[in-house]
Amino acid sequence: MTTFYTQNDVKSFVQTLKLKNKTIGFVPTMGALHEGHLSLVKNAMTDNDIVFVSIFVNPTQFDNSSDLEKYPRTLDADVDLLKTVGENIYVYAPNVQDIYKKEVKAENFSYDGLEFEMEGKFRTGHFDGVGTIVKRLFEIVTPNNAYFGEKDFQQLMIIKKLVSKYHIPVNVVGSEIYREASGLAMSSRNQRLSDEARKESAFIYQTLLKAKEKFGTKSATKVKEWVQEQFEKHPLLTLEYVEIANSKNLKTVKRKSKNETYRIFIAAFIENIRLIDNIALN
Ligand code: PAJ
Repeated sequence: MTTFYTQNDVKSFVQTLKLKNKTIGFVPTMGALHEGHLSLVKNAMTDNDIVFVSIFVNPTQFDNSSDLEKYPRTLDADVDLLKTVGENIYVYAPNVQDIYKKEVKAENFSYDGLEFEMEGKFRTGHFDGVGTIVKRLFEIVTPNNAYFGEKDFQQLMIIKKLVSKYHIPVNVVGSEIYREASGLAMSSRNQRLSDEARKESAFIYQTLLKAKEKFGTKSATKVKEWVQEQFEKHPLLTLEYVEIANSKNLKTVKRKSKNETYRIFIAAFIENIRLIDNIALN
């Protein structure tokens, strides 16, 4: 498996691939890879001749410097894990300078309002940072298809918007959430949880499933109140937000309509670690 460290090296290699008419699948990540990431890589392998995986902890999308510092960096283990998935995978693991040159700063993006909901409310500037890095990576790797997880459903929608607004010629593909046996959505942050916290965090998914049942007969407001009550009773988890939103525009549901689809989203803290999850409600 080849690891590239500079965008110039990636660009020249990509040129040789284009001359051979090879299709490129791309999975952008921040590393500390787990089965969830691998599920995206496997999807990319099915659809494309070769797959690029970028591994880069992007400083401009963190609104909290301690979260950025503590983010696990495990490049060697990541490469070993990718080797178990197959050949024709190429890693791009740049340093901050290779991406940002002298100024480590996000550009400003408008995503037609998507950026003001949920994660956007609680993580200032987060989606400007995400847009900045993903746009740059798309320019370097020039993939045919790029893979993003529904785990970060709002991010997936924002990337689709980015691509259409900026006319970036890449097809954005969403992948289902990969879960631990307990139901906890896999995340690089799970590595930092104590055994007890990891076990208790399955509560998030269990609550989402029960909320889905209730959504059949109750209003969105009532379901959200019920979720808040469940978290208030939980000794370790602290709810940051619960939201029920229209899957197409992420606007909070006021009144349910039969023709629309909805999702429920949760962000919660345990041991100062922030976890997010979401599921479809109908
Ligand atoms: P990261 O958190 O490393 O996630 C990389 C990709 O893997 C994202 O598309 C994310 O949604 C997906 N993913 C993570 N956990 C998953 C799971 N359990 N099941 C399915 N997919 C999962 O998201 C980022 O990095 C960054 O914001 C990035 C897009 C790389 C920009 O820096």
